[in-house]
Amino acid sequence: MQVGIESISLYTSHYYLDLQKIAEKRGEDYNKYYTGIGQERMSVPPPDEDVVTLAANAVIQAMENIDARQIDTLMFATESGVDQSKAAGIWVHKLTNLPKNMRVFELKQACYSGAGGLALALPYLLQHPDRKILIVAADIARYGLESVGEPTQGAGAIAMVLSTSPKIMTFELSSGIFTQDVMDFWRPNYRDEALVDGKYSIKMYLRTLMEAWEQYTALSGRRFEDFNKFVYHLPFAKMGEKAHSFLVKHAAETLEESEWLKQIEDAAVYQRVIGNTYAASVFTALQSLLDVSTEDLSGKRIGLFSYGSGSVGEFFSGAVLPGYRTHLHSSRHQQQIISRIPLDYNTYAEFYSYKSNMPTDGSAISTPIHKTGSFRFAGLQEHRRIYEVVR
Ligand code: CAA
Repeated sequence: MQVGIESISLYTSHYYLDLQKIAEKRGEDYNKYYTGIGQERMSVPPPDEDVVTLAANAVIQAMENIDARQIDTLMFATESGVDQSKAAGIWVHKLTNLPKNMRVFELKQACYSGAGGLALALPYLLQHPDRKILIVAADIARYGLESVGEPTQGAGAIAMVLSTSPKIMTFELSSGIFTQDVMDFWRPNYRDEALVDGKYSIKMYLRTLMEAWEQYTALSGRRFEDFNKFVYHLPFAKMGEKAHSFLVKHAAETLEESEWLKQIEDAAVYQRVIGNTYAASVFTALQSLLDVSTEDLSGKRIGLFSYGSGSVGEFFSGAVLPGYRTHLHSSRHQQQIISRIPLDYNTYAEFYSYKSNMPTDGSAISTPIHKTGSFRFAGLQEHRRIYEVVR
């Protein structure tokens, strides 16, 4: 029996900052960002957009041709949760009118948790082939204005319906996993912004990739040559090149650079202009590959690597199904990305700082109206978050 993605959709915020604006502000050459880290733009959420609204918009697209009564689980993967106790997915469940007879919960392990949810969902579905699982991964990457991580921020959500009647991609069950306790990137409960040891985090990413790859190949018996494309967690687009060149050196020494670049370049197209989407990142990269590749990927095996700082990484794989293109929302994704509104640095900084100035004493506040999708975060009342449907 096959198990995999029946439907997948991406959603990002309607505003972006060109990284040239950060370079101007810092008196730096913008090529440090455009070329050095491979990033041109990053999505910026306005004050009335959060992981709930980003996710709900991704869910309504992913659910378009799905009978909601078959979904029995919604897993919400995020590291920018809006409540320490209540799962963000419960608001998404309500906003998108999902059935009451289902379980909803949140998953956390930095950027890894979406892949962790997928690993749990696949065997569950094989045991319950009449059911479907909705995995939503949504995050807003925040490092702080003028911090070293600032150019690697971003925002976005991916919603995927997984089932035993996949139409886009099937997954294979063997994977390679590696966990170790490292402080490369973390966010204490009292902070809105992540702390990071940037260069060390890149080293930990690469070490984890190698360990996960070794276990994957040992368990699956597959080799580098068995793959057509590779999709990496992309905190910034250049990280995919760093990771893949590292793997190539280890597993396919004679492969020319022009050849291995072809294996990863389509997966980085969305990342270059959206930025880091943390838990959604590896799936945003998969969405990018599926949407923008002019090559017919039917039957092609894809290797995927998810890395969540702290840290957990997993290498897993799947194959694209014939006819996958007719089930994608590619033109809608591309349209949303190109129609985003550019921000100047000061407006971006105002959007960015809004969250830190929200009341914490229970007093009411209405968030100003900006361009959002079908849902918006309308404000707070007596410590309760208020969401509304945009007509
Ligand atoms: N033209 C072209 N290239 C230039 C340049 C110019 N004018 N100026 C600099 N560069 C190059 C540098 O040579 C460097 O290239 P290499 O990495 O190949 O050496 C690159 O641009 C970046 O320059 P710096 O290293 O000087 O940049 P930085 O000090 O600003 O740090 C960063 C970059 C570490 C990625 C930082 O943005 C950061 O800490 N980001 C957040 C952490 C992160 O994304 N970690 C990734 C792994 S952890 C993970 O994946 C989990 C997660 O999502 C957080």
